[in-house]
Amino acid sequence: MSGSTTYYKSMRDVTSPRHLILAIESSCDETAAAVLRDGRHVLSDIVASQVGIHSQYGGIVPELASRRHLEVIVGVAQEALNQAGSTLAEITGLAVTQGPGLVGSLVVGVSFAKAIALAQGIPLTGVNHLQGHLLSIFLERHVPTFPYIGLVVSGGHTSLYIVHSFTSAELIGHTRDDAAGEAFDKIAKLLGLAYPGGPVIGELAEKGDPHAFKFPRAMLPETPFDFSFSGVKTAVQTVVRRGGRDGIPHLADICASFQEAVVEVLIAKSLAAAQKYQLGQIVLSGGVASNPRLRSRMTEAARDQGCEAFFPRPGLCTDNGSMIALAGYHQLQEGITIETDADVYSRLPPSPGVVC
Ligand code: KG4
Ligand code: ZN
Repeated sequence: MSGSTTYYKSMRDVTSPRHLILAIESSCDETAAAVLRDGRHVLSDIVASQVGIHSQYGGIVPELASRRHLEVIVGVAQEALNQAGSTLAEITGLAVTQGPGLVGSLVVGVSFAKAIALAQGIPLTGVNHLQGHLLSIFLERHVPTFPYIGLVVSGGHTSLYIVHSFTSAELIGHTRDDAAGEAFDKIAKLLGLAYPGGPVIGELAEKGDPHAFKFPRAMLPETPFDFSFSGVKTAVQTVVRRGGRDGIPHLADICASFQEAVVEVLIAKSLAAAQKYQLGQIVLSGGVASNPRLRSRMTEAARDQGCEAFFPRPGLCTDNGSMIALAGYHQLQEGITIETDADVYSRLPPSPGVVC
């Protein structure tokens, strides 16, 4: 028994000359919605951040996250439609993040999207959040050509891919422990800094010496495209504990040295992948890709190796609805849809074409 219902009456929408996608993203701690025209033009992009709710706990509290999504999701979607100057009746397709992420948070977005799809009789596609990040660069003017090396570096993921097309990416390595953004967040908590830790550490690092402390860089020669950030985290903890009652010594130097260790690993592995697979373009995305030091050092290092590094603007690096709309648009073009019985997934994405 499938118990599923088909939303759309025909594929009329896919051939419509004007394609308007409404996208919903609620995988983590941002409730986001966007309207995208013809797979290219962002008409609106609304993000309601929950940072204020989770910052007092130094990290995301899943139950609080899902409850907040529930409270704001209708308003966020309505605002996205208003800013786009559109109504629901004009929307030709829906895209929603189906995973990976926090189950309770995903359920809110997917249930909401299903309800709209059913009421409006329009197709709904389930997007892999990581595919959204990998494609976010296509919302910029200067875009890469397929295939390229994609590095998603965020609070939940540090994963290297070969991105083959708008609907297909191949995982070649991922973190064995913490994600890079998670390491930034944990170190910030340890240092008594605000959540999320990435931007705060990045700012303090500007005043510090990146070579003051020699923190470890885990290169993992057996699995060269995997990552591990637990060693650098422990090394920072040791330095901080040594500070004892006198407080944390050289805060800016610790931040700069920690950031440098993470940045160097991310660059070395991305470039090694580009070399191995003979690809000249590397696209970084995810919250950590907005880090200024990573952006400048990666740009230089790629150039030295005869490659080009691409970064979406910072607002497109962190979670947003536009990237989900873009990925969703291409899936809908290929007729990839989900039905009323679709589930969410917290980890492994069964998304079409994505090998993880
Ligand atoms: O992509 P994102 O918004 O959410 C996830 O999908 O995880 O990424 C959030 C992560 C957080 O861990 C945050 O500390 C980190 O990205 N981040 C940064 C910077 N801005 C955000 N890390 C380093 N430097 C930054 N400037
Ligand atoms: Zn993300």
